[in-house]
Amino acid sequence: MKLIHIIAGLALATAPLAAQVPVYLDETKPIEDRVEDALSRMTLEEKIAVIHAQSKFSSRGVPRLGIPEIWTTDGPHGIRAEVLWDEWDQAGWTNDSCVAFPALTCLAATWNEDMSLLYGKSIGEEARYRNKAMLLGPGVNIYRTPLNGRNFEYMGEDPYLAATMVVPYVKGVQSNGVAACVKHFALNNHEVNRYNTNVIVDDRTLYEIYLPAFKAAVQEGGAWAIMGSYNLYKNQACCHNEYLLNDILRGEWGYDGVVVSDWGGTHDTDEAIHNGLDMEFGSWTNGLSEGASNAYDSYYLALPYLNKIRSGEVGTEELDAKVRNVLRLAFRTVMNRNRPLGSLCSDAHYAAARQIAGEGIVLLKNDADLLPMEVKKGSTILVVGENAVKMMTVGGGSSSLKVQREISPLEGIRERFGDIAEVVYERGYVGDTGGEYNGVTTGQDLSESRSAGQLIADAVARAREADYVIFIGGLNKSNQQDCEGADRTQLGLPYGQDQVIEALAEANENLIVVNISGNAVAMPWVEEVPAIVQAWYIGSEAGHAIADVLSGDVNPSGKLPFTFPARLEDVPAHIMGEYTGIASADTVDIEYKDGIYVGYRWTDLQKKTKPLFAFGHGLSYTSFEYGKPVIDKDEMNMDGSVTVRVSVTNTGDREGKEIVQMYVGDRKASVERPVKELKGFKKVSLAPGETTEVSFTVDKEDLSYFDADRHEWVAEPGMFDIYVAAAADDVRGKVSFELK
Ligand code: BGC
Repeated sequence: MKLIHIIAGLALATAPLAAQVPVYLDETKPIEDRVEDALSRMTLEEKIAVIHAQSKFSSRGVPRLGIPEIWTTDGPHGIRAEVLWDEWDQAGWTNDSCVAFPALTCLAATWNEDMSLLYGKSIGEEARYRNKAMLLGPGVNIYRTPLNGRNFEYMGEDPYLAATMVVPYVKGVQSNGVAACVKHFALNNHEVNRYNTNVIVDDRTLYEIYLPAFKAAVQEGGAWAIMGSYNLYKNQACCHNEYLLNDILRGEWGYDGVVVSDWGGTHDTDEAIHNGLDMEFGSWTNGLSEGASNAYDSYYLALPYLNKIRSGEVGTEELDAKVRNVLRLAFRTVMNRNRPLGSLCSDAHYAAARQIAGEGIVLLKNDADLLPMEVKKGSTILVVGENAVKMMTVGGGSSSLKVQREISPLEGIRERFGDIAEVVYERGYVGDTGGEYNGVTTGQDLSESRSAGQLIADAVARAREADYVIFIGGLNKSNQQDCEGADRTQLGLPYGQDQVIEALAEANENLIVVNISGNAVAMPWVEEVPAIVQAWYIGSEAGHAIADVLSGDVNPSGKLPFTFPARLEDVPAHIMGEYTGIASADTVDIEYKDGIYVGYRWTDLQKKTKPLFAFGHGLSYTSFEYGKPVIDKDEMNMDGSVTVRVSVTNTGDREGKEIVQMYVGDRKASVERPVKELKGFKKVSLAPGETTEVSFTVDKEDLSYFDADRHEWVAEPGMFDIYVAAAADDVRGKVSFELK
């Protein structure tokens, strides 16, 4: 009783105080009220201070009002090491190591939204623990050419797949009170000349291919941040692009988050004021020799903007709009006292990384069921290839990481099989012996004195004696491989790997090739190698996840998020689009003449050429049989949609997961349309002998194309085909219906 009286008394005594809590600090008040209140209390200088960087990765808050700084971090598959205030070099902290999650191509290859949510939640926890308000990721630029050095950071060639997979990632990250910053908006589809490529693309292609993933991230994922890209569109930098940011992002999509520039992507104060940019980062400065006393004061949205306001050249309406967006970001993140605390390098994060990798690794080929490996006691496993030992988390550009640990494929294979078999290693070839990025080093000595011929001879000699040979090669994160800032120069494997693989195939028929890359590679030896695995950049748990799949502890269930063309000449961007691999100081127009025919939309039209591996392809250690797809009533549901059902049976003798894909094709249209387009997929897990029914609802949106003249989505009446498929080139059933 007494206690209650004391508490009641306290409540009375503090009541007047509570009433004085300013609205912007009162978490019971709607965010918009808090934003307006905070805005009304800020001086002009304070407003200018929050819309540009104060260091490489942070912007100033409003110290006088107790609004903290905003710290950002790369992204997108691990939390970047802390860097120096004004430089890219790592700061040398000892408490900033992270878990590297699989690169986003691998996540996309899971075709599993649960994996995406787990990914987002886990990486968001790491970001939160490291006190970041914004994660610079995920990336959803469409895979237009296999030469793009940054494809590994993105989610593949298909707008529907990328749009579906990005949403849970964003939600997962933001459940930690950390903003996901979706990048790079938009049309940043290659790296060479990225600062001065002016993309020319028709509206239909823009809306059908290049925008849907961004739109989904914003509208369905509720992304709190988006990053403008380096390139130009309509001859205007995308970081302050009237059409993309004002008209589409805010106008059509109703975006209420913050637009940040890519680092150094801002070029003009007036455009930045008027065309939708809210926060300027990374304009080129070393912080010392350029600019005013503080180089950040020279940013386009710093003193130059302030001076324009002071002189009356521009008003403050645009400034207030920007500050509102920044404040909204602050209230969603750093000013949210209820957000969780996060965690770093937890067992749960390693487990998540391994699970996602296990679901994303793709079994491309498996003749005579060579996989899973059946390793007998006393047998020998020969592992060949630089990527079996090379750390892949360092390099690649801004996504480079400083990891707490990274299990190499060789370590993973030794751990899994070492107690029953002898696991021996041969280098096979020399690729990239470097291992440093911004001061973070792998500490690996990859130097090699043997000649290329000797390396092959040594590997072959051992291959003759081995029971299994596992070649682990592919690309890496060095310049002109899978790396930001440049593109690859060829589709083929570098460093003479084709010769190594061919020699091994001759020496031993139990050859497994594990390709580590974020991009398609040519495989001239495909017929000679019985088993091929696409293993991506998997991060900290690489070795474990690869051994999980090779051993059969995990039954592979990933499918390709992009087409593996047989030749570069089969890629539409290279045939009829314009792609130039030549760096230029002047602005270069790149016209996307390939239009909507990206990836399988193109290969579907080809009679003579076939891809090496199709979009959506991926095998399992079990087999699946599809029933005949049926449409409920041969006609539209009340709401104008139709429901398609198909049964899927696991006909093998192990549990496995199948990704059932649903594509839609318009039989006759007033415009050219692809043969079919992905409009649904479901990943189902089935025990041996088990059957399940998978259903898809197809609505008008799924039947529509973007009519550029009318500027709207149009579904034309007529016959539509619905394809149920195991891959873009493996249609298992078709049903048709008429849209009246
Ligand atoms: C990249 C961004 C990255 C930023 C900050 C830029 O060069 O394009 O993706 O987030 O740097 O590191």
